[in-house]
Amino acid sequence: MNQDNALNLLLNTLHNEREPSLWVADEHAAAAQHIPVNPVVEAISNRVDVATDLTKRGWHCRFSDLDFRHIEDSSLTTLYFRLAKEKPLVNHVINQASRVLKTGGRLIMSGEKQQGIKNYAKKAGISLAGKAEIKKQGRDYLATITRGPQPAIPLDDSDYHQLRTTQHHGGIDIVSKPGQFGWNKLDSGSVLLAEQFEQLPIERPDTVLDLGCGYGFLSLAAHQQWPDATITATDNNAAALISCQQNFIQQAINGEVIAANCASSITEKQALILCNPPFHQGFSVENNLTEQFVSTAKRLCKPSGCALFVVNAFIPLERIAKNHFRHQKLLLNNGHFKLFKLYD
Ligand SMILES: C[S@@+](CC[C@H](N)C(=O)[O-])C[C@H]1O[C@@H](n2cnc3c(N)ncnc32)[C@H](O)[C@@H]1O
Repeated sequence: MNQDNALNLLLNTLHNEREPSLWVADEHAAAAQHIPVNPVVEAISNRVDVATDLTKRGWHCRFSDLDFRHIEDSSLTTLYFRLAKEKPLVNHVINQASRVLKTGGRLIMSGEKQQGIKNYAKKAGISLAGKAEIKKQGRDYLATITRGPQPAIPLDDSDYHQLRTTQHHGGIDIVSKPGQFGWNKLDSGSVLLAEQFEQLPIERPDTVLDLGCGYGFLSLAAHQQWPDATITATDNNAAALISCQQNFIQQAINGEVIAANCASSITEKQALILCNPPFHQGFSVENNLTEQFVSTAKRLCKPSGCALFVVNAFIPLERIAKNHFRHQKLLLNNGHFKLFKLYD
Protein backbone atom coordinates (compact mmCIF):
# COMPACT_ATOMS: atom_id res chain seq x y z
CA MET A 1 0.00 0.00 0.00
CA ASN A 2 1.16 3.56 -0.65
CA GLN A 3 1.65 6.21 2.01
CA ASP A 4 -1.27 8.37 0.89
CA ASN A 5 -3.77 7.18 3.47
CA ALA A 6 -6.59 9.27 2.02
CA LEU A 7 -6.11 7.44 -1.28
CA ASN A 8 -5.99 4.07 0.52
CA LEU A 9 -9.26 4.90 2.27
CA LEU A 10 -10.88 5.63 -1.10
CA LEU A 11 -9.44 2.51 -2.77
CA ASN A 12 -10.66 0.23 0.04
CA THR A 13 -14.20 1.45 -0.58
CA LEU A 14 -13.84 1.33 -4.38
CA HIS A 15 -12.61 -2.26 -4.15
CA ASN A 16 -16.08 -3.37 -2.92
CA GLU A 17 -18.05 -1.49 -5.60
CA ARG A 18 -20.52 -3.71 -7.54
CA GLU A 19 -22.31 -1.19 -9.83
CA PRO A 20 -21.06 0.82 -12.88
CA SER A 21 -18.91 3.54 -11.42
CA LEU A 22 -16.05 5.89 -12.18
CA TRP A 23 -12.75 6.59 -10.46
CA VAL A 24 -11.14 9.98 -11.15
CA ALA A 25 -7.47 9.10 -10.69
CA ASP A 26 -5.22 12.13 -10.72
CA GLU A 27 -1.51 12.28 -9.88
CA HIS A 28 -2.01 10.83 -6.37
CA ALA A 29 -2.61 7.45 -7.96
CA ALA A 30 1.00 7.50 -9.25
CA ALA A 31 2.10 6.67 -5.70
CA ALA A 32 -0.17 3.64 -5.39
CA GLN A 33 1.59 0.29 -5.79
CA HIS A 34 -1.09 -2.40 -5.76
CA ILE A 35 -4.55 -1.46 -6.93
CA PRO A 36 -6.55 -4.60 -7.64
CA VAL A 37 -8.72 -4.15 -10.72
CA ASN A 38 -12.43 -3.74 -10.14
CA PRO A 39 -14.03 -4.43 -13.56
CA VAL A 40 -17.21 -2.45 -12.87
CA VAL A 41 -15.21 0.71 -12.17
CA GLU A 42 -13.80 2.71 -15.08
CA ALA A 43 -10.98 5.14 -14.47
CA ILE A 44 -10.14 8.50 -15.96
CA SER A 45 -6.84 10.26 -15.40
CA ASN A 46 -5.33 13.58 -16.43
CA ARG A 47 -1.77 12.16 -16.03
CA VAL A 48 -0.45 10.06 -18.86
CA ASP A 49 1.79 8.00 -16.54
CA VAL A 50 -1.13 7.14 -14.24
CA ALA A 51 -3.40 6.22 -17.18
CA THR A 52 -0.70 4.08 -18.82
CA ASP A 53 0.13 2.32 -15.59
CA LEU A 54 -3.51 1.59 -14.69
CA THR A 55 -4.15 0.30 -18.23
CA LYS A 56 -1.13 -2.03 -17.94
CA ARG A 57 -2.55 -3.39 -14.69
CA GLY A 58 -5.84 -4.25 -16.42
CA TRP A 59 -7.95 -1.19 -15.61
CA HIS A 60 -10.12 0.39 -18.26
CA CYS A 61 -8.63 3.88 -17.99
CA ARG A 62 -8.81 6.92 -20.29
CA PHE A 63 -6.20 9.67 -20.43
CA SER A 64 -7.92 13.03 -20.86
CA ASP A 65 -8.17 16.46 -19.32
CA LEU A 66 -10.93 15.08 -17.08
CA ASP A 67 -13.28 15.12 -20.03
CA PHE A 68 -16.50 13.36 -18.99
CA ARG A 69 -18.37 13.92 -22.27
CA HIS A 70 -18.41 10.20 -23.12
CA ILE A 71 -20.44 9.46 -19.98
CA GLU A 72 -24.21 9.71 -20.26
CA ASP A 73 -26.27 11.82 -17.88
CA SER A 74 -27.54 10.03 -14.76
CA SER A 75 -25.79 6.78 -15.71
CA LEU A 76 -23.42 6.07 -12.80
CA THR A 77 -23.91 4.74 -9.29
CA THR A 78 -20.75 6.10 -7.71
CA LEU A 79 -17.93 8.48 -8.56
CA TYR A 80 -14.72 8.07 -6.55
CA PHE A 81 -12.27 10.94 -6.15
CA ARG A 82 -9.25 11.53 -3.93
CA LEU A 83 -9.27 15.30 -3.40
CA ALA A 84 -6.82 17.20 -5.65
CA LYS A 85 -4.93 20.38 -4.94
CA GLU A 86 -6.49 22.73 -7.45
CA LYS A 87 -9.87 24.27 -6.67
CA PRO A 88 -11.24 24.65 -10.25
CA LEU A 89 -10.38 20.98 -10.90
CA VAL A 90 -12.16 19.79 -7.73
CA ASN A 91 -15.19 21.94 -8.54
CA HIS A 92 -15.16 20.59 -12.11
CA VAL A 93 -15.27 17.00 -10.80
CA ILE A 94 -18.11 17.85 -8.40
CA ASN A 95 -20.07 19.53 -11.24
CA GLN A 96 -19.57 16.50 -13.47
CA ALA A 97 -20.60 14.18 -10.62
CA SER A 98 -23.93 15.98 -10.39
CA ARG A 99 -24.50 15.34 -14.10
CA VAL A 100 -23.37 11.71 -14.44
CA LEU A 101 -24.72 10.30 -11.15
CA LYS A 102 -28.19 8.78 -10.91
CA THR A 103 -30.55 10.16 -8.31
CA GLY A 104 -29.45 8.39 -5.13
CA GLY A 105 -25.97 7.84 -6.61
CA ARG A 106 -22.94 8.82 -4.54
CA LEU A 107 -19.88 11.00 -4.88
CA ILE A 108 -17.23 9.54 -2.58
CA MET A 109 -14.29 11.83 -1.87
CA SER A 110 -11.34 11.38 0.47
CA GLY A 111 -8.78 13.82 1.78
CA GLU A 112 -7.26 15.42 4.84
CA LYS A 113 -8.80 18.22 6.89
CA GLN A 114 -6.18 20.80 5.88
CA GLN A 115 -6.76 19.85 2.24
CA GLY A 116 -10.29 21.17 2.64
CA ILE A 117 -12.26 17.92 2.56
CA LYS A 118 -14.91 19.10 5.06
CA ASN A 119 -15.57 22.30 3.15
CA TYR A 120 -15.67 20.53 -0.24
CA ALA A 121 -18.08 17.90 1.16
CA LYS A 122 -20.39 20.63 2.39
CA LYS A 123 -20.26 22.48 -0.94
CA ALA A 124 -20.78 19.22 -2.86
CA GLY A 125 -23.83 18.42 -0.70
CA ILE A 126 -25.42 21.72 -1.74
CA SER A 127 -24.32 21.39 -5.36
CA LEU A 128 -25.64 17.82 -5.76
CA ALA A 129 -28.89 18.83 -4.03
CA GLY A 130 -28.32 15.90 -1.72
CA LYS A 131 -26.87 15.14 1.67
CA ALA A 132 -23.26 14.89 2.75
CA GLU A 133 -21.92 12.49 5.37
CA ILE A 134 -18.34 12.57 6.48
CA LYS A 135 -16.37 9.93 8.45
CA LYS A 136 -12.98 10.39 10.05
CA GLN A 137 -10.31 7.71 10.01
CA GLY A 138 -7.03 8.78 11.57
CA ARG A 139 -6.08 12.08 9.91
CA ASP A 140 -8.19 11.35 6.85
CA TYR A 141 -11.82 11.77 5.97
CA LEU A 142 -14.15 9.90 3.66
CA ALA A 143 -17.08 12.01 2.49
CA THR A 144 -20.18 10.48 0.88
CA ILE A 145 -22.45 12.90 -0.94
CA THR A 146 -25.75 11.58 -2.26
CA ARG A 147 -27.21 12.97 -5.51
CA GLY A 148 -30.60 14.46 -4.76
CA PRO A 149 -33.54 14.60 -7.21
CA GLN A 150 -33.44 18.41 -7.66
CA PRO A 151 -31.40 20.22 -10.36
CA ALA A 152 -27.75 20.68 -9.44
CA ILE A 153 -26.26 24.01 -8.39
CA PRO A 154 -22.95 24.28 -10.29
CA LEU A 155 -19.78 25.32 -8.45
CA ASP A 156 -17.31 27.80 -9.94
CA ASP A 157 -14.87 25.67 -11.97
CA SER A 158 -13.26 28.70 -13.69
CA ASP A 159 -14.80 27.46 -16.96
CA TYR A 160 -12.59 24.38 -16.69
CA HIS A 161 -12.22 23.37 -20.35
CA GLN A 162 -11.86 26.88 -21.76
CA LEU A 163 -8.46 27.99 -23.04
CA ARG A 164 -7.89 31.70 -22.50
CA THR A 165 -5.14 34.31 -22.55
CA THR A 166 -3.76 34.46 -19.03
CA GLN A 167 -0.54 36.43 -19.55
CA HIS A 168 0.99 39.00 -21.86
CA HIS A 169 4.71 38.44 -21.70
CA GLY A 170 7.58 39.36 -24.01
CA GLY A 171 5.08 40.96 -26.38
CA ILE A 172 2.93 37.86 -26.85
CA ASP A 173 -0.32 36.45 -25.47
CA ILE A 174 0.12 33.25 -23.51
CA VAL A 175 -2.78 30.84 -23.39
CA SER A 176 -3.59 28.45 -20.55
CA LYS A 177 -6.42 26.72 -18.69
CA PRO A 178 -7.20 25.24 -15.26
CA GLY A 179 -6.11 21.70 -14.42
CA GLN A 180 -2.38 22.36 -13.98
CA PHE A 181 -0.58 23.88 -11.00
CA GLY A 182 0.08 27.61 -11.51
CA TRP A 183 -1.97 27.66 -14.72
CA ASN A 184 -2.72 31.40 -14.51
CA LYS A 185 0.69 32.61 -13.29
CA LEU A 186 4.22 33.03 -14.54
CA ASP A 187 6.66 30.84 -12.62
CA SER A 188 9.34 33.21 -11.20
CA GLY A 189 12.04 30.54 -11.59
CA SER A 190 11.23 30.06 -15.27
CA VAL A 191 11.11 33.83 -15.86
CA LEU A 192 14.57 34.07 -14.29
CA LEU A 193 15.87 31.31 -16.57
CA ALA A 194 14.39 32.92 -19.70
CA GLU A 195 15.89 36.30 -18.75
CA GLN A 196 19.35 34.71 -18.91
CA PHE A 197 19.00 33.34 -22.46
CA GLU A 198 20.76 36.29 -24.11
CA GLN A 199 23.87 36.11 -21.97
CA LEU A 200 24.11 32.33 -21.68
CA PRO A 201 27.51 30.78 -22.30
CA ILE A 202 26.06 28.45 -24.97
CA GLU A 203 26.05 28.00 -28.74
CA ARG A 204 22.87 28.80 -30.72
CA PRO A 205 20.90 25.50 -30.35
CA ASP A 206 19.24 23.81 -33.34
CA THR A 207 17.08 21.59 -31.11
CA VAL A 208 15.54 22.44 -27.73
CA LEU A 209 13.67 20.20 -25.29
CA ASP A 210 11.27 21.80 -22.78
CA LEU A 211 11.16 19.08 -20.13
CA GLY A 212 8.02 19.38 -17.95
CA CYS A 213 6.70 22.16 -20.19
CA GLY A 214 3.49 23.18 -18.39
CA TYR A 215 1.66 25.59 -20.70
CA GLY A 216 4.95 26.13 -22.54
CA PHE A 217 6.47 29.28 -21.08
CA LEU A 218 10.07 28.16 -21.65
CA SER A 219 9.29 26.97 -25.19
CA LEU A 220 7.80 30.37 -26.01
CA ALA A 221 10.84 32.17 -24.59
CA ALA A 222 13.23 29.83 -26.43
CA HIS A 223 11.33 30.39 -29.69
CA GLN A 224 11.71 34.16 -29.29
CA GLN A 225 15.43 33.80 -28.62
CA TRP A 226 16.23 31.12 -31.22
CA PRO A 227 13.41 31.27 -33.83
CA ASP A 228 15.07 28.66 -36.08
CA ALA A 229 15.33 26.00 -33.38
CA THR A 230 13.06 22.95 -33.45
CA ILE A 231 11.37 22.76 -30.06
CA THR A 232 10.00 19.64 -28.38
CA ALA A 233 7.82 20.22 -25.32
CA THR A 234 6.71 17.41 -23.04
CA ASP A 235 4.62 16.99 -19.88
CA ASN A 236 2.47 14.31 -18.24
CA ASN A 237 -0.50 16.57 -17.49
CA ALA A 238 -3.34 16.77 -20.01
CA ALA A 239 -4.31 20.39 -19.26
CA ALA A 240 -0.68 21.48 -19.65
CA LEU A 241 -0.35 19.67 -22.98
CA ILE A 242 -3.56 21.21 -24.38
CA SER A 243 -2.41 24.70 -23.36
CA CYS A 244 1.12 24.20 -24.68
CA GLN A 245 -0.16 22.86 -27.99
CA GLN A 246 -2.31 25.98 -28.43
CA ASN A 247 0.67 28.24 -27.65
CA PHE A 248 2.75 26.36 -30.26
CA ILE A 249 0.00 26.96 -32.83
CA GLN A 250 -0.47 30.64 -31.96
CA GLN A 251 3.26 31.39 -32.16
CA ALA A 252 3.85 29.07 -35.15
CA ILE A 253 6.58 27.24 -33.25
CA ASN A 254 8.39 24.62 -35.28
CA GLY A 255 8.19 21.50 -33.11
CA GLU A 256 6.04 19.06 -31.22
CA VAL A 257 4.17 18.73 -27.94
CA ILE A 258 4.40 15.21 -26.52
CA ALA A 259 2.53 13.51 -23.68
CA ALA A 260 5.03 11.43 -21.71
CA ASN A 261 6.13 10.48 -18.23
CA CYS A 262 9.37 12.41 -17.84
CA ALA A 263 10.00 12.28 -21.62
CA SER A 264 10.10 8.47 -21.54
CA SER A 265 8.99 8.09 -25.19
CA ILE A 266 11.46 10.67 -26.52
CA THR A 267 14.74 9.38 -27.95
CA GLU A 268 16.14 12.19 -30.12
CA LYS A 269 19.14 13.88 -28.51
CA GLN A 270 18.87 17.64 -28.01
CA ALA A 271 21.31 20.54 -28.17
CA LEU A 272 19.64 22.36 -25.29
CA ILE A 273 17.36 21.09 -22.53
CA LEU A 274 15.36 23.54 -20.45
CA CYS A 275 13.87 22.39 -17.17
CA ASN A 276 12.14 23.78 -14.11
CA PRO A 277 11.52 20.38 -12.52
CA PRO A 278 8.50 19.56 -10.36
CA PHE A 279 8.99 18.62 -6.72
CA HIS A 280 5.39 18.00 -5.73
CA GLN A 281 3.22 15.02 -6.50
CA GLY A 282 -0.28 15.96 -5.44
CA PHE A 283 -0.09 17.34 -1.91
CA SER A 284 3.26 15.78 -1.05
CA VAL A 285 6.88 16.68 -1.81
CA GLU A 286 8.49 14.02 -4.01
CA ASN A 287 12.30 14.09 -3.87
CA ASN A 288 12.82 11.45 -6.56
CA LEU A 289 11.28 13.70 -9.21
CA THR A 290 14.35 15.97 -9.43
CA GLU A 291 16.59 12.92 -9.83
CA GLN A 292 14.32 11.55 -12.57
CA PHE A 293 14.37 14.84 -14.50
CA VAL A 294 18.17 15.26 -14.24
CA SER A 295 18.76 11.68 -15.34
CA THR A 296 16.38 12.19 -18.32
CA ALA A 297 18.23 15.38 -19.25
CA LYS A 298 21.47 13.40 -19.28
CA ARG A 299 19.91 10.70 -21.48
CA LEU A 300 18.60 13.21 -24.01
CA CYS A 301 21.50 15.67 -24.12
CA LYS A 302 23.79 15.66 -27.17
CA PRO A 303 27.44 15.14 -26.18
CA SER A 304 28.13 18.75 -27.17
CA GLY A 305 24.87 20.06 -25.67
CA CYS A 306 23.81 21.15 -22.21
CA ALA A 307 20.86 21.30 -19.84
CA LEU A 308 19.73 24.41 -18.01
CA PHE A 309 17.92 23.71 -14.75
CA VAL A 310 16.27 26.24 -12.49
CA VAL A 311 15.31 24.98 -9.01
CA ASN A 312 14.18 26.37 -5.68
CA ALA A 313 17.20 27.21 -3.51
CA PHE A 314 16.52 24.30 -1.11
CA ILE A 315 16.69 21.59 -3.83
CA PRO A 316 20.12 19.86 -3.67
CA LEU A 317 20.63 19.92 -7.43
CA GLU A 318 24.43 20.05 -7.04
CA ARG A 319 24.43 16.65 -5.32
CA ILE A 320 21.95 15.09 -7.75
CA ALA A 321 23.60 16.44 -10.93
CA LYS A 322 26.99 15.08 -9.81
CA ASN A 323 25.66 11.54 -10.33
CA HIS A 324 24.73 12.23 -13.96
CA PHE A 325 26.75 15.04 -15.56
CA ARG A 326 30.51 15.50 -15.54
CA HIS A 327 30.29 19.26 -15.18
CA GLN A 328 27.96 21.70 -13.52
CA LYS A 329 28.13 25.47 -13.39
CA LEU A 330 26.05 27.56 -11.02
CA LEU A 331 25.06 30.48 -13.25
CA LEU A 332 22.98 32.34 -10.69
CA ASN A 333 21.68 32.09 -7.13
CA ASN A 334 19.34 34.85 -5.98
CA GLY A 335 18.46 33.23 -2.65
CA HIS A 336 15.13 31.92 -3.97
CA PHE A 337 16.28 30.12 -7.12
CA LYS A 338 19.47 28.52 -8.40
CA LEU A 339 20.21 28.28 -12.10
CA PHE A 340 22.59 25.58 -13.35
CA LYS A 341 24.24 24.62 -16.59
CA LEU A 342 24.84 20.85 -16.70
CA TYR A 343 27.09 19.33 -19.36
CA ASP A 344 29.73 16.69 -20.08
C1 LIG B 1 7.52 23.62 -12.02
S1 LIG B 1 6.45 23.17 -13.33
C2 LIG B 1 7.23 23.98 -14.70
C3 LIG B 1 6.27 24.28 -15.80
C4 LIG B 1 6.83 25.07 -16.98
N1 LIG B 1 8.02 24.47 -17.53
C5 LIG B 1 7.11 26.50 -16.61
O1 LIG B 1 8.28 26.83 -16.62
O2 LIG B 1 6.20 27.26 -16.29
C6 LIG B 1 6.83 21.45 -13.56
C7 LIG B 1 6.07 20.74 -14.68
O3 LIG B 1 6.45 19.37 -14.65
C8 LIG B 1 5.31 18.57 -14.98
N2 LIG B 1 5.48 17.20 -14.48
C9 LIG B 1 5.33 16.72 -13.23
N3 LIG B 1 5.57 15.40 -13.18
C10 LIG B 1 5.88 15.04 -14.45
C11 LIG B 1 6.23 13.80 -15.06
N4 LIG B 1 6.31 12.67 -14.34
N5 LIG B 1 6.49 13.77 -16.39
C12 LIG B 1 6.40 14.92 -17.13
N6 LIG B 1 6.08 16.12 -16.61
C13 LIG B 1 5.83 16.18 -15.28
C14 LIG B 1 4.15 19.31 -14.32
O4 LIG B 1 2.91 18.95 -14.91
C15 LIG B 1 4.55 20.78 -14.57
O5 LIG B 1 4.00 21.24 -15.76
